[in-house]
Amino acid sequence: MTLQHQVVHEANNLVARSTPKEFFQNQPEESFCKDLAQYKELHKQSIENPEKFFGDFANQLLDWDKPFVKAKNGHLRSGDASWFLGGKLNASFNCVDRHAFNTPDKVAIIYEADEETESPVKLTYADLLSEVSKVAAILSDWGVKKGDRVAIYLPMIPAAIIAILAVVRLGAVHSIVFAGFSAASLRDRIVDCDAKVIITSDEGKRASKVIHSKKIVDTAIDGLSVVEKVLVFQRTAASNIPMKFGRDFWWHEEAKKFSGYFPPTSVDSEDPLFLLYTSGSTGSPKGVVHSTAGYLLGAALTTRYVFDIHQQDILFTAGDVGWITGHTYACYGPLLLGCATIIFESTPTYPDIGRYWRIVQRHKATHFYVAPTALRLIKQLGESAIAKYDISSLRTLGSVGEPIAPELWQWYDEKIGQGRCHIADTYWQTESGCHLIAPLAGAVPTKPGSATVPFFGIDAAIIDPVSGKELKGNDVAGVLAIKNSWPSMARSVFRNHDRYIDTYLKPYPGYYFTGDGAGRDNDGYYWIRGRVDDVVNVSGHRLSTAEIEAALLEHSGVSEAAVVGIHDDLTGQAVVAFVGLKEGYLVSRIKESESKGDHITLTQLRQELRIKIRAEIGPFAAPKTVIVVPDLPKTRSGKIMRRILRKIISNEADQIGDTSTLSNPSAVEKIITSVDEQFFNFKK
Ligand code: WTA
Repeated sequence: MTLQHQVVHEANNLVARSTPKEFFQNQPEESFCKDLAQYKELHKQSIENPEKFFGDFANQLLDWDKPFVKAKNGHLRSGDASWFLGGKLNASFNCVDRHAFNTPDKVAIIYEADEETESPVKLTYADLLSEVSKVAAILSDWGVKKGDRVAIYLPMIPAAIIAILAVVRLGAVHSIVFAGFSAASLRDRIVDCDAKVIITSDEGKRASKVIHSKKIVDTAIDGLSVVEKVLVFQRTAASNIPMKFGRDFWWHEEAKKFSGYFPPTSVDSEDPLFLLYTSGSTGSPKGVVHSTAGYLLGAALTTRYVFDIHQQDILFTAGDVGWITGHTYACYGPLLLGCATIIFESTPTYPDIGRYWRIVQRHKATHFYVAPTALRLIKQLGESAIAKYDISSLRTLGSVGEPIAPELWQWYDEKIGQGRCHIADTYWQTESGCHLIAPLAGAVPTKPGSATVPFFGIDAAIIDPVSGKELKGNDVAGVLAIKNSWPSMARSVFRNHDRYIDTYLKPYPGYYFTGDGAGRDNDGYYWIRGRVDDVVNVSGHRLSTAEIEAALLEHSGVSEAAVVGIHDDLTGQAVVAFVGLKEGYLVSRIKESESKGDHITLTQLRQELRIKIRAEIGPFAAPKTVIVVPDLPKTRSGKIMRRILRKIISNEADQIGDTSTLSNPSAVEKIITSVDEQFFNFKK
């Protein structure tokens, strides 16, 4: 029995828990979905008649400059599904203007700065419209127009939201690069999408540490002719920021030149709204392309139904805008619904472990959304801090980005939710745009550790990876796929539609393949087990082992590299890298260092390799450890057997099984010795 099967069997004994009565008592209005029966009915309609279902919601939740003619076109199988053809709209208008006209004084953004003393800063919808108009005017003046790509490399500050909305106001396409990425990663992404403008800040601040955003941008675009202009937001007002004449401009100085309303540009439903690079199992990161209308509808609909968000609510999404969670649930979702979104620049532990709860208390946040990693950290360090704060405003607690263990789910429910909240374990991906599987607050009973049931329009399937056949009925386990297109699904990989087809649509023809293993229990609830490809999930960050290996191979001493993900109590998974060195490399490095009066050790070299990854990709991708081995286990065709490495590093070398098919079976013993010396001994 596989782990997936085991989990599903155990799950069959669990009784789903209904939403606590306090949840309903704290609601400003009735839930959007009332109960499980209504969910089932709506889900059925969404699958049987998606055109009517999503067509009606698109008219209800979005404002159109020109109505669409047909809600759904094309097919999943052929990779040409499209939604709301003939319609025209603008994302910035939908997120800002319509609320600024109706409820100008309503708070849109609450900014919690890195230093608590600088907080909070609030922007109303009227303020937001004025700020967005100014930046749109600057960009337009620089010649940015519909379809152009603009890269955004900013910390989690209101300027990031303003930048997003200014770009899409012109019908241009944003490509946000998480501010933790290195100059090299930023450069790759800028080159791939030909961004002609970059929006960044002088610096950033995280837990009082300074991030040199502008310097990183300078390094990234050095010698790149495609980048014409850089707009620099003054975050720290540091005095030593070099500005290149004719290329770099201060946001605050340019903004002074413009005032008043800058009109939005109407775009077609299927025009791209943004690109977001994400890691896959092979090759360079993929620029996932999202459409305008379909994505916006998915963002609005899930924010409303999964979280049960009403206009008075205040959503605190603690993820960064550099990842999809920040795009959909810190920016687009809440703003489309005219709510307030909390933009949090710092970390859960700065200045102390009570930070999240002070924010909730101060702003009476109703919704809190975070990755399990942060919860594990709080559980370990700061449980006692929770009781000091009044967090009774909370109604829905969300979890995202990685599986949440049942124990942690229960802890979240008891300690943070205090038994009063709906716990929403939301399963989705950069490519899905919005939640795929999640319990609708106030309607769908929950089971600790299960993301529960598919969202509207998602016809989920479990496929047997061996036969490639769909497993019908309940109590089944395999890989997770989706049988139909849904409005917010990614439309393509930027300039590489073949890669889109190959990655998502080819593995199981007729289905969208998620890359995750999952099971469905007797109640039809889904249990996500994590990636079945070479993607590792560290603290909810999606990392490609292939990309880390490529970074290691760039080191002059490395001849081969294999990266695996292992369980980690704090970060969920951790990266471990195995490297083989070029013959004689270590000896010559030692000689070289000795001639300089130094003596490089193996430990130092391993650290150097970790630093290499930090520099090439970003600090969040640095492996937990790098282990130097004499040889890597390979099949006769030369494929590295990562499974064996995973067993050894997980202290399960006794379960490796038959190694006779390897071209170099003797490598295994040597790796066990290296791991003992460099990892286990070190840990002891
Ligand atoms: C994983 C993040 C279990 C999954 C929104 C997916 C999850 C990948 C969950 C996408 C969850 C996300 N339970 N696993 N609730 N949510 N994942 O693109 O492996 O950064 O394929 O999007 O995260 O990561 P991405």
